[in-house]
Amino acid sequence: MIFKKKQPQTVPKLDPNNIPAHIAFIMDGNGRWAKKRNMPRTYGHHEGTKTIRTLALEANRLGVKAMTVYAFSTENFARPQQEVEYIFKLPKEFFNLYLQELMDNNVQIRFIGDVARAPQWTQDVIFSAVERTSHNTGLILCFAFIYGSRQEIVEACKQIAMDYKQGDLTLDEIDEDLFESYMMSADLPPVDLLVRTSGECRLSNFMLWQLSYAELYFSPVLWPDFNEACLHEAIIAYQHRDRRFGGLKS
Ligand code: FPP
Repeated sequence: MIFKKKQPQTVPKLDPNNIPAHIAFIMDGNGRWAKKRNMPRTYGHHEGTKTIRTLALEANRLGVKAMTVYAFSTENFARPQQEVEYIFKLPKEFFNLYLQELMDNNVQIRFIGDVARAPQWTQDVIFSAVERTSHNTGLILCFAFIYGSRQEIVEACKQIAMDYKQGDLTLDEIDEDLFESYMMSADLPPVDLLVRTSGECRLSNFMLWQLSYAELYFSPVLWPDFNEACLHEAIIAYQHRDRRFGGLKS
């Protein structure tokens, strides 16, 4: 009898020297995740917040500099009022549960988007979390909240036009670096890796400027199920990409 030698399993390893500086997530699939369990869509969002915590801690441990999550788009106002109201309660729930732990792990909280459109008490919770963590030097956990990328670009253009009109800027000074400095994400590193969960393959008005040279990774996993192992898989896939930034293969 011939025994076949078992092939050693080659589990791809994460290269600690090639960790993306900025990972952005389009957190998709919460509603479907809940529906599969005969639960309301809001339950999916509730469970989705746990994934943010898990991934933020793991990203921080791996040395990722920034992680942006698409928590609410300007287009999401079209959802039923009850769902919108529920999502506006999530910052309070999230920070009540996890702010201390994020503080202990040196995580800094940021928000980009038109936060002023949220109820005042939601804004208060957000500002307090941002303020409390502002001196932390670990991972920047940035929430894109009431965010739309086209709106962000138009706002930057308006601001540049105003500064030009007032004589604070000359035409020659307007270049990519200057434009970047007018974006809400100005001091975050460019996005290296964009992950969208749930099998959808589109950008949905998310960080269009910032994603110019990002590697795109689409996972079939629904957001509440996207765990540390899924994050590792995404980073390993990123590490196997040949990033040329328009140049030739080195
Ligand atoms: C998309 O799934 C998800 C959202 C629109 C909201 C996600 C928000 C969170 C997970 C929490 C935000 C937390 C804070 C602290 C602000 P979907 O509803 O479109 O899923 P579906 O495509 O399956 O319907």
